[in-house]
Amino acid sequence: MSRKPFIAGNWKMNKNPKEAKAFIEAVASKLPSSELVEAGIAAPALTLSTVLEAAKGSELKVAAQNSYFENEGAFTGENSPKVLAEMGTDYVVIGHSERRDYFHETDEDINKKAKAIFANGLTPIICCGESLETYEAGNAVEFVGAQVSAALAGLSEEQVSSLVIAYEPIWAIGTGKSATQDDAQNMCKAVRDVVAADFGQAVADKVRVQYGGSVKPENVAEYMACPDVDGALVGGASLEAESFLALLDFVK
Ligand code: PGA
Repeated sequence: MSRKPFIAGNWKMNKNPKEAKAFIEAVASKLPSSELVEAGIAAPALTLSTVLEAAKGSELKVAAQNSYFENEGAFTGENSPKVLAEMGTDYVVIGHSERRDYFHETDEDINKKAKAIFANGLTPIICCGESLETYEAGNAVEFVGAQVSAALAGLSEEQVSSLVIAYEPIWAIGTGKSATQDDAQNMCKAVRDVVAADFGQAVADKVRVQYGGSVKPENVAEYMACPDVDGALVGGASLEAESFLALLDFVK
């Protein structure tokens, strides 16, 4: 079963349009072949059109960091998945732990968002992950499994086969304290097992599962060597062009 590795940079709420443009121009022509690895940037809504324009003609995929589950209407401050699709966005990150923690997004919201994203022809990158407390209590598999099942409920086998799940332990995000190779492998395998239980092994063999949490050029190859880790969602180390490109070096 060959799943193409996918390295996605998550800029979070960083960079203005000028900085975003300079970054994309610096990386666009230097990406490894898309036959070997998919590379993407999840840009904040305010720089998305700049990033899409600068990435045109390159192999770089562009993701939004969130969307709403309705296409239009009286939802002040929200971003329409329909408009994201019209703009040419490829992916939408949903359920990031920062959205769950600071903006109170629920599993049910995330499930509705996944459906709306597919309805508009986009692909979700669905984040999951446990807190330090849950990890230390030994409940990570159960907790993350429930998040994954809830996020995917009601999707078709075809949809689940095509989407991306990012397993990001909250205690490893932005802390410099990355998961061990074994933890990353075991948790990404656990995520795949949940997909197998809910949608069958053939679907589980296709879905891509990324690890996220303090991934850097120095440790990315370690994670990518794990059989169930199909890529990485990278925050801090995706902000500089050189570092982002170095994250892709594992394919060489
Ligand atoms: P980090 O963030 O790489 O800075 O830990 C990862 C993420 O939150 O997606």
